[in-house]
Amino acid sequence: MPLADTTVQAVIRCEQVHRRYTMGDAEVHAVRGIDLEIARGEFAAITGPSGCGKSTLLHLLGAIDAPSSGRVYVNGRDTATLGDAEATTFRLQHVGFVFQRFYLMPTLSAQENVELPLAEPGLGKVARRTRAAELLGYVGLGDRRGHRPTQLSGGEQQRVAIARALANNPALLLADEPTGELDAATGERLLELFRQLNRDGTTLLFVTHDHVVADTAQRVIRLLDGRVSSDTRRREH
Ligand SMILES: Nc1ncnc2c1ncn2[C@@H]1O[C@H](COP(=O)(O)OP(=O)(O)O)[C@@H](O)[C@H]1O
Ligand SMILES: [Mg+2]
Repeated sequence: MPLADTTVQAVIRCEQVHRRYTMGDAEVHAVRGIDLEIARGEFAAITGPSGCGKSTLLHLLGAIDAPSSGRVYVNGRDTATLGDAEATTFRLQHVGFVFQRFYLMPTLSAQENVELPLAEPGLGKVARRTRAAELLGYVGLGDRRGHRPTQLSGGEQQRVAIARALANNPALLLADEPTGELDAATGERLLELFRQLNRDGTTLLFVTHDHVVADTAQRVIRLLDGRVSSDTRRREH
């Protein structure tokens, strides 16, 4: 039995998590026994060389993928106990996710992509439209609302993906290289938005190669070969 206290405190907790991919006869052991706890209100960065398991781990922590063995708890809930429909509702309500490859709907406009997850019951059409427009404004795309993904640059698509992830005001934002496609000035603007969200109580867990992002995070978790090689908390200054 997990201790009730730590389960409540930790937004995410994982215990001895492994993820193996089988490809025909070959097996890739991408995540190799990770124990990790992310506390409410933290801003943590996951770094490490390409192929070390960062994206795999983030998907596991966001209940998008299931571990081969081990346990993942989000908000104290063992993600293995969630059925498919329940997992979807759970993610919509609690977790915002920015994928490394964005996964925007190609036939929908930026505005419609952001409206899509706005599932709050009772939220009318006008309110959804207003909320999505507001979010696109936050990420600096107020004038690109009618554009479809193919009509947007990589950096703009990334910002649509960020706006979409924020649609339901998630308590936990997981993002895979959220500034990877952005120029320095736009990256800095979004980083300020992330800092503001974090000050307002959103827990942030980002995979990043960006030193500016890693330097802003209060905690840096380094992965190497599917394991945590270091986990450093910055002292407040
Ligand atoms: N769906 C998959 N099927 C098979 N192998 C995968 C899959 N996803 C990732 N891998 C492999 O798992 C390892 C870790 O990948 P990934 O988590 O994407 O690393 P990172 O994000 O750190 O670059 C890599 O060797 C990669 O090739
Ligand atoms: Mg990756």
